[in-house]
Amino acid sequence: MLDFKKEIGKLVSKNFGSLNEDTIIELLEVPPNYELGDYAMPCFRLAKELRKSPNIIAQEIVDSIKEKNLFEKIENVGAYVNFFINKEALGKTVLEEVFQKKEMFGSANIGKGQNVTFDYSAPNIAKPFHVGHLRSTVIGNSLYKIYNFLGYNSIGINHLGDWGTQFGKMISAYKRWGDDEEIKKEPIKSLQALYVKFHEEAEKAPELEEEGRYWFKKLEEGDEEARQIWKRFVDLSLEEFNRVYDLLNVKFDYNTGESFYEGKMERIVDMLKEKNLLVESKGAYVVDLEEYNMPPCIILKSDGTTIYATRDITAAIYRKETFNFAKSIYITDYSQNLHFAQWMKVIELMGFDWANQMEHAPFGRVSTEEGRLQTRKGNVILLDDLLMKSIEKAKEIIEEKNPNLENKDEVAKMVGIGAVIFNDLSNGKIKDIVFNWDRMLSFEGETGPYVQYTYARANSVLGKAEYHITNDVDYSLLTNDEAVNVIRLLYSFQNTIIAAMEKNEPSFIARHIIDIAQAFNKFYHECPIIVEDKELQKARVLLVYGAATTIKVGLSLLGIEAPQKM
Ligand code: ARG
Repeated sequence: MLDFKKEIGKLVSKNFGSLNEDTIIELLEVPPNYELGDYAMPCFRLAKELRKSPNIIAQEIVDSIKEKNLFEKIENVGAYVNFFINKEALGKTVLEEVFQKKEMFGSANIGKGQNVTFDYSAPNIAKPFHVGHLRSTVIGNSLYKIYNFLGYNSIGINHLGDWGTQFGKMISAYKRWGDDEEIKKEPIKSLQALYVKFHEEAEKAPELEEEGRYWFKKLEEGDEEARQIWKRFVDLSLEEFNRVYDLLNVKFDYNTGESFYEGKMERIVDMLKEKNLLVESKGAYVVDLEEYNMPPCIILKSDGTTIYATRDITAAIYRKETFNFAKSIYITDYSQNLHFAQWMKVIELMGFDWANQMEHAPFGRVSTEEGRLQTRKGNVILLDDLLMKSIEKAKEIIEEKNPNLENKDEVAKMVGIGAVIFNDLSNGKIKDIVFNWDRMLSFEGETGPYVQYTYARANSVLGKAEYHITNDVDYSLLTNDEAVNVIRLLYSFQNTIIAAMEKNEPSFIARHIIDIAQAFNKFYHECPIIVEDKELQKARVLLVYGAATTIKVGLSLLGIEAPQKM
C-alpha cells in the first residue's frame, strides 16, 4: 500500500531541493478536516534555516511542484502547504492491499519475532471470577492478538492467585467449618462462604488470624495435609474458570500461577541479600525504597513467609531467563499501581538492565451502583452469570428478528459474548466503570452487535454468488464522498493498530471499527450495490469486501467473532 506521507516527502524533496524527505515527513500533520487536505505541512520551523518567511516558503514549495502525481491538489494557505490525495489513487492502493492481504490486512512486522509476555486475567483461586477480572482478561487477550498481528511473538501467562496467606485462612476455615457435600455442589460459592465466615469469626476471635498464618506456613513448608486441601481448592476453581475462558474463547500459553514460583524464591532472596538490598524491619525483610518516595517492598514477613511481591520479582526474573522478552506487560486495575512500581524498582536496584522492558498497563475499576466490588463482602457480579445472561438476550433478539436463522445458538453465543467484550474494550482502559446491566447488554448504538450486524450485512452482499469479487475495477467509480469516507478509514486502519499497541489501548481499534461500520452503513444506504452498470457494481462490491474484511480483522483483534449471518 502506498504511504502517502512518504510520497509527499519524495515529491517535495525532488522538486524543492533544499529539503530532504525525512524533514518533510516529520513536519506533516493531519488537518482537522478534509477541506484543508489529507495532510498539511506547516513551514514555520523552516523559516530560520531557509531565511525566509514561512508563508513565502509555503508558496515556493507549491510553485516548485510540476507534476502532482498522486495528488489532486496541492495548495498553500498562509504558512501551510495542503496536500489533497487523488481519490482514485487512494481507493486503488487501499483496496488492492485488502484484496491481496485478506485477513492479514493491517498486519506488519514491527516486532520481528521478538517475544513479548502478557500477564493477564489472573483470578484468585477459591474466589469468584468476577467482572473485575473480565477486564484484565479481555484487555490482555486483545493486546496479545494486537502484538502478534504486528509481528511480535506473544506469550500469554495466567498468573493465577493460587498462593499466599489467604490459603492459610482458607485451610483453617475448611478444617473448622468445611462441608464436603456443599463444596461438591457449589464449589466456589461454598469456598467463598468459608472465606467470608473466616473474616467474620476472626473479628470476634483474633487468634484465628494466627491459625491462618500457621497453615500458610505449613503450606509453604510442604505439609502433606495442607497441600492436599490446597490442591483441591485449585482444581475446583480451575474447573469453574475454564468454563468462563471457554465462553470467552481465551487461551493461555502458560497457566503458571503464583504457586509455580514456590521453590524458586529462595534463590531470589539470596540474590537480594548478596546485593545488600535486604534490611530487617520489625522481624521482616524488606527493600527500602524511601529514596524513591515509596513504602518499603516487603520480601519476607516476620514469620519467614513470602508475599505477592516476592513472587512477582521471582516470576519476572524467571520470565526473562526463560523467554528473553523484549517487553513484558502486566494488566491489572490501577489499585495495584504502587505494588508494581515497588517491585519493578527492586528489579532495577538488583541491577537488571531489562527492568525498563517491563510495563504495567493499568485499567479502571469496576463498581456497582451500590459501591465497590468486594469479594469479602460477597458483593460481586459473577462473570458466568453475566455471560449467560448476555447470550440469552442475544438469543431472544434473534428469535424475534430472524427466527429462521440456522445455527441460532452459535450466533447467539458470538453476539452475546461479543457485546460484553466490546462494551469493555470500547472505552479508554483507565476509565472507571460503573456496572450497569442495561448498558452491558445493550445491542444498540456503538456496540459489538452493531458492528457484527454490519459485518453480516456486508457479508450477505458478498455471499451472493453473482457478485464476483475482483480487484480489476475502475477505481474512478469509488470517488464519491460515501465511498471515500470508508476508504480513508481503511487506509488509516494499520496506524490505529500500531497506536493501540504503543499505548496498550485496544479501545482505539474498537472506535475505529465503529467508525468504519458507520461510514459503511452510510455508503450502503446511499449507494446501491445491485445496479445496471456492471462496472459500477464490481467496484462497489470490492469496497464492500474491503469494509467487511477490515471489520472482521478489527473484531478478531478484540477477541470477538464475526458471524457470517445474523
Ligand atoms: N491475582 C491478582 C488479583 O486478582 C492479579 C495478578 C496480576 N499479576 C501479577 N503478576 N501480579 O489481584
